[in-house]
Amino acid sequence: GPALAFEVADADSIAELRHQAEGCTRCDLFRNATQVVFGEGLVKSEIVLVGEQPGDQEDLTGRPFVGPAGRLLDRCLEEAGLDRQRCYVTNAVKHFKFTPRGKRRLHAKPNAGEIRRCAWWLGAELNILQPKLVVALGASALYALLGPNAKLTPERGHILHPTNRPPVLVTIHPSYLLRIRDEQEQHRQRREFVSDLHKAAAFRP
Ligand code: URA
Repeated sequence: GPALAFEVADADSIAELRHQAEGCTRCDLFRNATQVVFGEGLVKSEIVLVGEQPGDQEDLTGRPFVGPAGRLLDRCLEEAGLDRQRCYVTNAVKHFKFTPRGKRRLHAKPNAGEIRRCAWWLGAELNILQPKLVVALGASALYALLGPNAKLTPERGHILHPTNRPPVLVTIHPSYLLRIRDEQEQHRQRREFVSDLHKAAAFRP
């Protein structure tokens, strides 16, 4: 069945899909980004983690979740008993969107149109991988997976079951934790994030 509410690419393998995506001009984000950052991990992975979009370090290295949010994600996955090596990790949007600020490039949030355009790739990844569970890390991933009606706050920590598609565990994005100033609140949110990831580790279809 269709992996997403949006139109998706057709390919037989992740390698073929990645190759197709390298020339992507489906939205304007390719113009300023260094390269496509495609998903990576085992093709037989039962769990697919979906972030928002590559950040500065991901854009430069071409690999998802290798910067500060990625390192925090790795630690939280480990605490939750999930081995990142056994997951497939990807993003809703495959090019880095930023606004230049001096020498720095500041993350800019992808808009709904960019997410819909890029769901072409995400949906095809899911069609090929057929995971038992997809983890939506934050609102952009949730939008890519379930469209405009799914809301992060009320669904956070829950597993949703769209018809004919893999179930989706809804949680926050790790970079949200990095932005919380209040230390107690940061610890509380981090514990809840680890507990959400633990639900993914314990999930049996
Ligand atoms: N944030 C994301 O959503 N994805 C990455 O790959 C890195 C940071």
